[in-house]
Amino acid sequence: MHNMPPPVTKVLETFTPQLFRHAVAETVSVLRSGQVAAIPTETVYGLAADAFNPQAVRRIFQIKGRPAVNPLIVHVASMAMLRDCAGTVPESVHRLAEFFWPGPLTVVLPRSEKISDDITGGGGTVAIRWPGHPFFRDVIRELGNPVAAPSANLSNRLSPTTVEHVLDQLNGLIPLVVDAGPCAVGIESTVLDLSGTVPAILRPGIISADALRAVLPDLSEGITSKDRTVSRSPGTMPIHYAPVAPLRLFHFTSESDLIQLAGENDAGPGQTIIMTHLPRPLAAPWKDCIVFPFDPEAYARALYGELFRSDKAQPRLILIESPPDGTEWAGVSDRIKRAAAPRS
Ligand code: TXA
Ligand code: MG
Repeated sequence: MHNMPPPVTKVLETFTPQLFRHAVAETVSVLRSGQVAAIPTETVYGLAADAFNPQAVRRIFQIKGRPAVNPLIVHVASMAMLRDCAGTVPESVHRLAEFFWPGPLTVVLPRSEKISDDITGGGGTVAIRWPGHPFFRDVIRELGNPVAAPSANLSNRLSPTTVEHVLDQLNGLIPLVVDAGPCAVGIESTVLDLSGTVPAILRPGIISADALRAVLPDLSEGITSKDRTVSRSPGTMPIHYAPVAPLRLFHFTSESDLIQLAGENDAGPGQTIIMTHLPRPLAAPWKDCIVFPFDPEAYARALYGELFRSDKAQPRLILIESPPDGTEWAGVSDRIKRAAAPRS
């Protein structure tokens, strides 16, 4: 018997055209061999597999510890590829594509027979996105097949927006991660269900309901429509996207209220990190105070990185100011509410 060296995850850079092309070729060869790779997208890093290779798709679920009923998003690089994955393509998809693709929008459509149960969790629909990130687009084009990819994190943990975040959770579990720097959007895509009688948002994102309504006047008011045919979207359950430290929301009134709220959660100021979206007059010896930019896009870009960094500091508690109302804040609000949801 001899000791096996621990498996290592190879990290490839993309900051020169040569490195970029080399990383595309390596990623495609990893995907062709039926393995998975963590790759950059404009939203969050994704854990990619060839969508037409059911065994490779099952690897994604194994590595993440993801329940088999939680369906995956399939990523395409053309409308022809989309038609290959969808059973029917409503006219609204073409209008949406004109405005939002390539980009951080995912649509749920009836699936084609080429999409396996492993991807859909056994359901009759498939989620499809045409990503804007140049690296991801090149990988899909060169592979010639759609690419299944969830966020490159363990199930129920924070989605990664840098390679450091990916390696923190998946180092040694995957053969390859490609570094293209921090993700520009920073939160996962807006998921829009077009398989029911009325379009409905299943997961809010940086493309807001108001933006979608310009193209889809009949978009359902709520986050999910009552007469949806899809019942499974486990990403829309609470306790998703959670840091390790407990996280509570607050509306700012005074610092003494914050100190009291910390106390109610068994933490003193020195063990508590405060996160706000406006500068607040704070004097207590808080463990850290983070002020997010008062802009939904800039806030979204910073959110997971700040939660990751704060979590590493091992606070007893994170207190985060409730974001403003308004559909442009819905994506950020949704992720924060999930992170604050009670854990079992
Ligand atoms: O921005 C993103 O969407 C990233 C990047 C990698 O593209 N991907 C991502 O994937 O966030 P994931 O697996 O972490 O989240 C996919 C979400 C889940 O909430 C899942 O339940 C939902 O999409 N979903 C996937 N297929 C679905 C379907 N057929 N019907 C309803 N919801 C679906
Ligand atoms: Mg995810």
